[in-house]
Amino acid sequence: MAGVTPPQRERFGSKFGVIAAAAGSAVGLGNIWKFPYEVGNNGGGAFLVLYLGFVLLIGIPVMISELAIGRNGQKNAIGSFRAISPKRPWFLVGIIGVAAAFMIFAFYGSVAGWTLEYIFQSAKNGFEGKTPDQLGSMFDNFVENPMRPLMWQTIFIVLTASVVMAGVKKGIEKYTKILMPVLFLIILVLIVRSVTLPGAGAGLEFLFKPDFSKINASVILSALGQAFFSLSLGMGTIITYGSYIRKNDNLAVTAIQVSTADTVIAIMAGIAIFPAVFAFGINPSQGEGLVFVTIPNIFQQMPGGYVFSLLFFILLAVAALTSTISLLEVIVAYFSEEYKISRKKATIYSSIVILFIGTLCTLSKGGPLTDFTIFGKNIWGFLEFVSADILLPLGGLCIVIFVGFFMGRKRVREELTNAGSIKGRLIPVAMFLVRYIAPIGIALVFLNAIGLLKFG
Ligand code: PFF
Repeated sequence: MAGVTPPQRERFGSKFGVIAAAAGSAVGLGNIWKFPYEVGNNGGGAFLVLYLGFVLLIGIPVMISELAIGRNGQKNAIGSFRAISPKRPWFLVGIIGVAAAFMIFAFYGSVAGWTLEYIFQSAKNGFEGKTPDQLGSMFDNFVENPMRPLMWQTIFIVLTASVVMAGVKKGIEKYTKILMPVLFLIILVLIVRSVTLPGAGAGLEFLFKPDFSKINASVILSALGQAFFSLSLGMGTIITYGSYIRKNDNLAVTAIQVSTADTVIAIMAGIAIFPAVFAFGINPSQGEGLVFVTIPNIFQQMPGGYVFSLLFFILLAVAALTSTISLLEVIVAYFSEEYKISRKKATIYSSIVILFIGTLCTLSKGGPLTDFTIFGKNIWGFLEFVSADILLPLGGLCIVIFVGFFMGRKRVREELTNAGSIKGRLIPVAMFLVRYIAPIGIALVFLNAIGLLKFG
């Protein structure tokens, strides 16, 4: 191909399309499945306060940095680093990202499969007349017999692969634009129902009243990991999407809008879930099953619950799908661009690897691999911890240091001001966060987590 102008890179077609795709990546199971159980396990309101601080002071600067790298580098997560800094090994950050994408997709795809089972159960009215206890054991039985979860997981991976094969504009952008707003509306309906249940107040108190005695080093690390996971940061997803953004879109504004949408939806999911958890006497720290047990409880007591439950799980699946699409896109963009194989081949090969690791994850949840542990965690727990709590913040740390000190002021300015056409009065603030606050913040959390530093 030497000497030939490469074909025009694919682009998102509209500003709303960009936000829908990036928010589609950010908003997913992390908001509706993981956020509520992390809050439940880690002391409610105090976790929330930490989380919000991390989104504002670390998440948004990392997101701006990733967008700038992608749009400036005009390549995948690894290639963009190489394009900007060909002589230094910064591309390794992209490699961490691609590795994290495989790991996250493995367990994420498993939960995404659960959403399909719950669509199926909603459709056949499988929750009707069940007590909260029965709904709890229904979930446990389903997860502990791995055949069905594996079947759904496979279907989900195939679905993701088919959208990614269709490409950026006709696949990713087209679907996310319609589905994200509908998801928002359904959560609103749920909130109204949940907060009007008798005893709902205790749930709101749990979510919003901070009890700082619950905070310790591992809770702080989880809050940071959750912020990265939920915003899809630290692993090149936003670099990859940034490379598809048109030159006249405002990167800082995009980052703020996407982060706000993501945070609002996570909190809304919390408001929909916790009042019902307390009203039905479900244990708020019961972990991964929280949403899958709480939501059927709400719906099966509600007029029109059949329709709403069906809609809810369809949308949860869609929210998961727009996120798995972005995970797969990181991998596919890398392999197809760097090794010059077709998008189709890259998609098929990577999906097979994901299915393999994903199967191990699923079998470690109640199946034959349950007792197999790595550093005291089962395969699933290990991959979740290493990716979300270690690799993403580590990737984020490298990303802000790269943009803050190594990418070159001129390039960064060019991206943040769209080559001078945006005034950018807030750029100094953004750069202060990128250069100092975010890296120091992440480093402190790490040092605290490994016990080298004690605070709080
Ligand atoms: N942000 C997604 C969620 O909250 O569900 C999960 C995710 C997607 C993480 C894409 C990382 C990523 F690259």
